[in-house]
Amino acid sequence: MTGWTATDVGDQHGRTVVITGANGGIGLETAKVFAARGASVVLACRDRGKAMATAAALPGGNVTTVGLDLGSLASIRHAAEELRSRHSRLDLLINNAGLMMPPLGHTEDGFELQIGINHLGHFALTGLLLDRLLTTPGSRIVTVSSSAHRQGRIDIDDLHFQRRRYKPTTAYSQSKLANLLFTYELQRRLTAAAANPIAVALEPGIISTGLQRHVSGAMAFSVAVLGKLIGQPDTAAGALATLRTATDPAVKGADYYAPDGRILNASGHPVPVRSSSASHDADTQRRLWVESERLTGVTYSFNSRSDAGTAA
Ligand SMILES: NC(=O)c1ccc[n+]([C@@H]2O[C@H](COP(=O)([O-])OP(=O)(O)OC[C@H]3O[C@@H](n4cnc5c(N)ncnc54)[C@H](OP(=O)(O)O)[C@@H]3O)[C@@H](O)[C@H]2O)c1
Repeated sequence: MTGWTATDVGDQHGRTVVITGANGGIGLETAKVFAARGASVVLACRDRGKAMATAAALPGGNVTTVGLDLGSLASIRHAAEELRSRHSRLDLLINNAGLMMPPLGHTEDGFELQIGINHLGHFALTGLLLDRLLTTPGSRIVTVSSSAHRQGRIDIDDLHFQRRRYKPTTAYSQSKLANLLFTYELQRRLTAAAANPIAVALEPGIISTGLQRHVSGAMAFSVAVLGKLIGQPDTAAGALATLRTATDPAVKGADYYAPDGRILNASGHPVPVRSSSASHDADTQRRLWVESERLTGVTYSFNSRSDAGTAA
């Protein structure tokens, strides 16, 4: 049996897809496929000028942009308002943007960069767009995690490394574990509210992209060698797990997909897999949710008749 490929993505006319961090890498490859299948695609990027040039080069003629810096709650609120005013439906929110292993730094709101951008920014954005997702039949929230979540340990009382020594790898793994804790808790709350969207997540494999820009020395060498030996052949292959979780009718809420390659799931075609046991800890999921609401000031409302997320 051959594996799932981009040719399995069905017609997307009439569907609206928002992709964060779609200026390059996996996000751009994902956008290309949705645009080619006729979706209305919104590139949600912090460099809007670059995003507009990218949009003009994509096929399909229905690609727009919104300025979004996930390291700024003000920018996230602004982007969500703009999206809500422009789109009455939202079929897919693809939380793709990410930052890996930078030196210690903080977002505009004082969050450690990786938990701030990779998790808290997407938590806020999703909450602020939830009403559009709740009222769009068949909608999905797709969050891009990583195999790094398997090394992840989360300290909810010290998300920003104020009491622990900062290690770039530990902070990245923590943020990618947070992506899964968020997805599973979101699905639990959607199910409890009998709400229509599903929340799903994936890891894309190993792909050479801009993500590795902060990795240097021996680790850069190992990542490059590993990528060549067992990684995805190109960035388009790296977008397959996102495309499958976003479009395959067989995908269910709280599913997690990864490439089927035998070594570290680093390459191959996307299949359902089980994420780490830490990611399934319901108590940690709830505690992270409460802390994420507190830190972002975004409270989720699952009542589709009112505005979904409210910013305090
Ligand atoms: N590549 C891999 O091997 C791999 C493996 C596992 C998981 N992943 C995950 O896949 C996702 C996509 O990564 P990629 O490999 O495609 O890397 P990439 O090429 O570096 O793309 C990441 C995107 O995120 C955007 N971004 C970073 N900080 C942002 C911010 N503050 N606000 C808005 N957007 C921001 C970047 O925008 P700029 O262009 O402005 O920097 C870029 O467009 C990430 O979540 C990553 O963790 C990748």
